[in-house]
Amino acid sequence: MSYERSVSASPHERMPETVWQIQMPEIRVGRGAASELGFQLEDLGVEDDARGLIVTDETLAELGHAGRVADHVEDTGFDVDVYDGSEREPSIEAVEECISFVREEMGTDGYDFYIGLGGGSCLDTAKTTRAVVANGGEILDYVAEPTGSGETLTESGPPLVLLPTTAGTGSEISPVAILSVAEKEIKEGISSNNVRADAAVLDPTLTTSLPPDLTAKTAMDALGHAIEGYTTHRYDTLLRPEDPADRPVYAGRTGFTELFSEKAIDLLSSNVRRAVNNGDDLEAREAMLKGALYGAIAGLTAGASLCHAMAYPVGNKYHTYHGETIAVLTPASTLGYNVASDPERFATIAELLGADTDGLSTRTAADRAREEFVALQRDLNVLPSGLHDLAGITDDEIDWLAEQTVDTQQRLLRCNPRPVTKADVAEIFRDSLHNWE
Ligand SMILES: [Fe+2]
Repeated sequence: MSYERSVSASPHERMPETVWQIQMPEIRVGRGAASELGFQLEDLGVEDDARGLIVTDETLAELGHAGRVADHVEDTGFDVDVYDGSEREPSIEAVEECISFVREEMGTDGYDFYIGLGGGSCLDTAKTTRAVVANGGEILDYVAEPTGSGETLTESGPPLVLLPTTAGTGSEISPVAILSVAEKEIKEGISSNNVRADAAVLDPTLTTSLPPDLTAKTAMDALGHAIEGYTTHRYDTLLRPEDPADRPVYAGRTGFTELFSEKAIDLLSSNVRRAVNNGDDLEAREAMLKGALYGAIAGLTAGASLCHAMAYPVGNKYHTYHGETIAVLTPASTLGYNVASDPERFATIAELLGADTDGLSTRTAADRAREEFVALQRDLNVLPSGLHDLAGITDDEIDWLAEQTVDTQQRLLRCNPRPVTKADVAEIFRDSLHNWE
């Protein structure tokens, strides 16, 4: 496999990158933030008599969250419809249904504003729906080749506000929507700054209904973003694009993203036990939401790498939750194989995860990060111990998974801080079968 350090430049462009940028939605965080949703919409320019759509799933509709969010919007004088057909790890077909719903209700112009409410799957459904309705055509027009046509999204569309009900995916601020392609058993991302929401509203009272296992799984996704972003390539190891518009969305770590990674690792690892053991602990829930936000600001700007690349083929084939897949793969990939890329950095991660590294050599301290991470996962009591426990995966299936990873995930693999071959990926999968007995 060839390893390409430059994800951004044309071959004749030789200048190293000297510029980094941060692009974020407006962000509102804290207890009661959802009650300011109407104000948020007005602030984004939504006008009187506007009609919007809440994109969510059946569970959140049944829990009453969708109704409460609709009340906040209607109190401001806007009309709002609810689409509760989002599915978990959504397929392209499932999101096309949401797009058809919009076109049937409102014609090709669609709604005046969109609200995504739920976990990453609902938020990705909302992001994709707004983008495709605003730009016309269908989803596959905008999915990268060879699965889709790879057309550019030129319009961002009307305002989109996202309200996460889990603390993990970071979809509320990310420029990516992840969709599964059922017939190919792969996941694809639509990635563009025009996919990014205009605002994110993070209210911990929307997350207290999340059960312990999902709390733990989404937390591991968030930790993965923080750690992968902290250990990926630096932005200035890429080449500078001729056109700033060609700067990749996963542009490498900067001093800015590192600050957020460090705080995220600390917040998530020191609050996840409380949030899992007592879902109504609002202080812990708020800390987890902030930790997930910081992890996303870091990881989804700098870029996810090897672990996320390996997680997509697993999730697509075995229909596992994204977070639990990240949980079982992180020890052997990010905190195993990648440690050699920068042991000092991993020693810092070990400390942030709570390990006592006093008196240890840098390399031994770096290896403590993996031990500390696995100990935390065992402690939570609701996470699978490895790929085998996760989905009955055995040695026989590993070559296929490695092949899929290398064939379909170059977008992420080329960001990995250590070059990786198909044989390496297979070995890391094998090392992930059992993180503990
Ligand atoms: Fe993730």
